Amino acid sequence: MKSIILYSSNTGNTKKIAEAIHTTIPNSVLVNIKDNNEVNLEDYDFIVVGGWIDRATLDTTSLTLVKNIKNKKIGYFFTLGASPDSEHAKNCVDNIDKLFLENNNSIVKRYFCQGAIDPKLTAIMSSSPERKKRWEIAASHPDENDLFMAIQTFSNLI
Ligand SMILES: Cc1cc2nc3c(=O)[nH]c(=O)nc-3n(C[C@H](O)[C@H](O)[C@H](O)COP(=O)(O)O)c2cc1C
Repeated sequence: MKSIILYSSNTGNTKKIAEAIHTTIPNSVLVNIKDNNEVNLEDYDFIVVGGWIDRATLDTTSLTLVKNIKNKKIGYFFTLGASPDSEHAKNCVDNIDKLFLENNNSIVKRYFCQGAIDPKLTAIMSSSPERKKRWEIAASHPDENDLFMAIQTFSNLI
């Protein structure tokens, strides 16, 4: 099986997860979407897409790519500022599932975890004690356990 992992990452959180997943998919190719527009998706049987969450869906770079993926076996992952247990995270999963499914892809793996929020963003956002607490929790992610769980999720592919 030929596999490719394509990711988009602004501040490095999603890149860490992409690199972890890369270690567990044999002979997979790892590509930063921004660095390579010449990949022929038709060459791959299994396509893994990783992005960061921007307004409850994938960031525009990965979104543009996803719109061009059709009839494929898919894995996807993302990092987000919110808690992975939140209603918001569930909405993100629903939104991303929909993107892949409307192009007749089959989703075989999903993974998501929290990622530190760019301090440039938190500096301009209105804060409340509750929000600050959430930002503090996010700041330590992805951590070792997040990377371990990403590897677990993408290991043992048939
Ligand atoms: C412009 C912008 C919009 C964001 N929107 C959301 C959002 O809607 N929900 C969320 O949980 N996190 C949001 N985040 C947080 C990022 O998804 C999170 O920090 C992610 O881990 C960044 O990944 P990266 O380091 O790979 O760029 C946003 C961040 C930015 C910069």
